[in-house]
Amino acid sequence: MLYERHYVWSVLLRIYHWAFALSIVVLTVTGLYIHFPWTNTMLEGSTSFPVATMRYIHFLAAFVFTGAVIIRLYLLIFGNRQERFWDFLPVTPRNLRNLLHTNLHYIYLRRHHEVRPGHNALAGTVYIVTLAAAVFQGLSGFYLLYPESATWQSLQVIFGSQMEARFLHYLGVWYFMFYALVHVYMCAWNDVVSKEGLISSIFSGYKYLRNRP
Ligand code: HEM
Ligand code: HEM
Repeated sequence: MLYERHYVWSVLLRIYHWAFALSIVVLTVTGLYIHFPWTNTMLEGSTSFPVATMRYIHFLAAFVFTGAVIIRLYLLIFGNRQERFWDFLPVTPRNLRNLLHTNLHYIYLRRHHEVRPGHNALAGTVYIVTLAAAVFQGLSGFYLLYPESATWQSLQVIFGSQMEARFLHYLGVWYFMFYALVHVYMCAWNDVVSKEGLISSIFSGYKYLRNRP
């Protein structure tokens, strides 16, 4: 079978992916520590100050995360063909068909999937939901971070009291943990079944697509 090499992910998208993924790992670990400081909190008041250190790392990672989200929002409109929302959201007949075929392929009712350079419509929809969850997580995070700022506190209509916002922010973490688990599994599964070099594409930018006869 002949394969063609296609350049699909720009440098900016790959920077976004790894900044987003790695900052989420840091934010999850430090966030869960803030939620439940699992080392002995008797350490507080001694020379070490673990919750404050974890909060500091959380906020550093939060700014990397925010930068990544802004990059992706920009690429949704100004990215290359594969990166624009139009290419993967199920809002066109082509993508709706792809959504159906991808689902059938994933439950082993359809042997072949449509060869396309970008995301399939199912993955693309999940990525947009994840981006929306990231915006929500970031806004609730800044709402918690700046209780003295009138601008940020105008979001009270959405997040409620600081306590309620903290709870919503905490619930968001479970979405990201579940997402990461399924995402890495699906990428590995696709890499094995479709042999397009999917995982390496998020490092190199290149995918290998079967030539249509
Ligand atoms: C712009 C991004 C973010 C900002 C500014 C931010 C900020 C904050 C702030 C201010 C707190 C409260 C700390 C405290 O009460 O001492 C917090 C808690 C927390 N954050 Fe974030 N955060 C962000 C993104 C994230 C992300 C992406 C995750 C995980 C996916 C996350 C997970 C958590 C967790 C688990 C807590 C503890 C909540 C609790 O105590 O129940 N954060 N964050
Ligand atoms: C071992 C770790 C990871 C690998 C190998 C990996 C691999 C990939 C690959 C191959 C794609 C493109 C898939 C496609 O075309 O549909 C992708 C996209 C994506 N990944 Fe990951 N990923 C990893 C970790 C993560 C983590 C931890 C997150 C966030 C929690 C994440 C978030 C995303 C998002 C949001 C996209 C969509 C990119 C876009 O907006 O176009 N990834 N990843």
